[in-house]
Amino acid sequence: MDRKSKRLTYHATMVVCIIFTCLICLTVYGEQPAYTFKLDRQASQFLKNARYSWDYLNVSYEDGEILHNLVVDGRFKNILEIGTSTGHSTIWLAWAAAKNGGKVTTIEINKKRYSTAIENFKKAGVDKYIEALYGDAHLVVRELKGPFDFVFCDADKEWYPQYFLDLESKIGVGGCYAAHNVIGSYSSEVSRFLDYVKKHPKFKTTIIKGSGEGISVSCRTVW
Ligand SMILES: C[S@@+](CC[C@H](N)C(=O)[O-])C[C@H]1O[C@@H](n2cnc3c(N)ncnc32)[C@H](O)[C@@H]1O
Repeated sequence: MDRKSKRLTYHATMVVCIIFTCLICLTVYGEQPAYTFKLDRQASQFLKNARYSWDYLNVSYEDGEILHNLVVDGRFKNILEIGTSTGHSTIWLAWAAAKNGGKVTTIEINKKRYSTAIENFKKAGVDKYIEALYGDAHLVVRELKGPFDFVFCDADKEWYPQYFLDLESKIGVGGCYAAHNVIGSYSSEVSRFLDYVKKHPKFKTTIIKGSGEGISVSCRTVW
């Protein structure tokens, strides 16, 4: 092969490699907008600044961080949250979802809190990773197709057992269902839910104390 043909072959190989790399990138990151360091800075700064200003029954900073780490460590992508309020936990979950190339669907019944949450998602830079639904989660969760690999339940406590019953078949092996307030002031309301998940033969449940309100995490071990 002469030098010209060699050079042509080299360039053709390079072009094929670049196209191939682009295709891989599109497959891996194509579903969601790419996670960037800018997003990292914006989300972490927003959460730090707003740390002590949440006042609509929101999770604590510490519990938000626990949820974020659970999602990042589990590489979860399809996340559902019940009970958005003004969006504190959603922002932690969405920031984690962005790192995994995933997204969060979240449901809130109170219009004012829902609207404030939407503003907060934009300020934190995570709005692209969130589908915020305004409605009654009692009805909405039944309509959602799933599957979900991480669910965070933080709405009306008396409905906790029913939310789990409606969602358990939409969580695959390795997927987890987390619930807030399983320790402390709401523990009697959520005891029926907790008894059920602890005895469930297909889920393994652990309790994380966090800031004191407790997060149960029930992960499916078999189908
Ligand atoms: C404890 S707060 C959620 C806090 C939120 N996870 C956070 O950390 O920012 C519970 C929220 O659930 C909402 N909620 C209660 N019942 C609901 C229902 N049936 N459907 C949807 N949202 C509901 C309430 O309006 C309230 O904003």
